[in-house]
Amino acid sequence: MTGIVYVNGQFLDRDEAVVSVDDRGFVFGDGVYEVTRSRDGVLLEVDRHVRRLERSLAGLDLAYSPAELPAISLRLLRDNGLARGEATVYWQVTRGAASPRTHQFPPAGTPVTVYASASPFTALHEKRASGVGTILLPDQRWARCDLKTVNLLPNVLAKQKAIVAGAHEAILQRDGVVMEGAATNVFGVIDGIIRTHPRTNYILPGITREVVLELANELGMAVREEPMLVDDMARLSECFLTGTTNDVMPVVTIDGRLVGDGRPGPIAGRLYSALIARWRVGD
Ligand code: PDD
Repeated sequence: MTGIVYVNGQFLDRDEAVVSVDDRGFVFGDGVYEVTRSRDGVLLEVDRHVRRLERSLAGLDLAYSPAELPAISLRLLRDNGLARGEATVYWQVTRGAASPRTHQFPPAGTPVTVYASASPFTALHEKRASGVGTILLPDQRWARCDLKTVNLLPNVLAKQKAIVAGAHEAILQRDGVVMEGAATNVFGVIDGIIRTHPRTNYILPGITREVVLELANELGMAVREEPMLVDDMARLSECFLTGTTNDVMPVVTIDGRLVGDGRPGPIAGRLYSALIARWRVGD
């Protein structure tokens, strides 16, 4: 893919953009990131993404203010011809380049590496219409899943297993409790009540999750931020995923077993419509 990307203060051709082999993002996965969405040149929920990045940066003791990223993103959208239609904008901040390699932080004053890029995006409307399949896997991640770090190996391996199994997403469970997806949050409906795992250190506080919870409350739906047990999954009338690149995505199978009647459910449909109305993202 060609285009203009941002690295450390410069807008460069993607082919010419360079990050050091000593970058701690490359060597240790020592960095944080965000994936944001844009529609017609407008970044969706941008303040929430900036706040979450600030939180992740603080969690890793990384000194960087992301206040410049929205303006950088708008320029990337413009320079890449993405000011119309839909796109994603990726932000990544690492602890910078340091040699020799040491586990402990490099000397104070080592500049962070800041990278941002914009890509065209097509919403997954066909998948949303049919609903998606998922597989259930053990959550093998660390105890700070609330920080959006580039250390995504367990997520990568889980998602790959899902793809190999012909599924869209892996749902991760820890000790019999449904946590979230490899790159999404998970909601379920049991006895008419929407449930999703509460905000703890074991899930990412998804921006879409937060917005969907607010919309569900505004719509007067019964919602509980309560853990859902794997043993309860047979009682699900609906299940859906939320995420920046999934919006609200109905789940129709888990490990090959039908959720409800095996078709996308009405609650997911209403929440998706409310989300789209909020963002005015065309359907
Ligand atoms: N992933 N949980 C995990 C583990 C995630 O990686 C993501 C997002 C979410 C959903 O969060 P949000 O609604 O803020 O996008 C939940 C991004 C899209 C990614 O890694 O590509």
